[in-house]
Amino acid sequence: MQKKLILLLTLIMVLGAISVTAAQDVKIGFLVKQPEEAWFQDEWRFAEEAADDYGFELVKIGGTDGEKVLSAIDNLASQGAQGFIICTPDVKLGPAIKAKADMNGLKVMSVDDRFVGSDGEPMEEVPHMGISAYDIGQLVGETLVEQMNKRDWDYEEVGYLVMTFDQLPTITERTQGATDVLMENGFPEDQVFESPMQTLDTEGSFNAANFALTKHADFDKWIVAGGNDSSVIGAIRALEGQGFGAENVIGIGINGSNFVVNEFEKEEETGFYASVKLSARRHGYETAELMYKWIKNGEEPPKVTWTTGQIMTRDNYKELE
Ligand code: GLA
Repeated sequence: MQKKLILLLTLIMVLGAISVTAAQDVKIGFLVKQPEEAWFQDEWRFAEEAADDYGFELVKIGGTDGEKVLSAIDNLASQGAQGFIICTPDVKLGPAIKAKADMNGLKVMSVDDRFVGSDGEPMEEVPHMGISAYDIGQLVGETLVEQMNKRDWDYEEVGYLVMTFDQLPTITERTQGATDVLMENGFPEDQVFESPMQTLDTEGSFNAANFALTKHADFDKWIVAGGNDSSVIGAIRALEGQGFGAENVIGIGINGSNFVVNEFEKEEETGFYASVKLSARRHGYETAELMYKWIKNGEEPPKVTWTTGQIMTRDNYKELE
């Protein structure tokens, strides 16, 4: 009898211990649309730092299409995760992702690319951290103007390649911000060449730029803007293929991750003049931290947070790292 009682008590204690650990185990997913892009690797790296600081488990997932994302959410739930942060491969998946998260009892927060609802409007009910896209685009435009003036370029001789990707609102705002500033500064409208990219990567940029360049071969100088670094680097490579380099090209990207540092470390200058360095740390560390506190203490993250950026060139990139 006594033996049985001891056994029972031990069992109760063991079960109790298991349930206490289970309550303490926080597991958070971090899904990104382009795991090969340096920007997302940086976000993951900073999210890992938050996981180490707070002692939760981070599950990094490449969610490159809708099917992968939806099954990853089921998977996270069955692994015992309580929430996830996501940069979705398509903003229109927002309602499906939110519904899937709710069904599985998971908290969700978006980063970089904000969910768009079935009414075409941003889904304000899902907490989001993104960049102040239009302002950052304007910073690109201002720097292009400043550099053209510094080099005494006659605007009449300059073609402007705008590498657009209008499937994604944050990218449209960025390219629009840059173009608006050029227009305000008297850049000729008929020298603006919108070059729609099929894919938001270097190859998409290279192809779109080559297409535009064969149609408008009559310029001596070029300026290039795009929604992120890959969107500009591809165009710079296409221009190099046509014989244009640092002396007659000014390209300015956005992100400022290692990818661009490589460009600045090339011995010979290229047409890639600058990038706007964004805060991958805030997008990775802070989103993970916000999600952790939401799960752990029930503190809801702010509905929306907009982050800023700074111009990064060959001259200052070491200080900005
Ligand atoms: C989008 C772009 C990324 C990066 C982030 C920043 O997701 O595709 O390259 O610029 O925005 O928020």
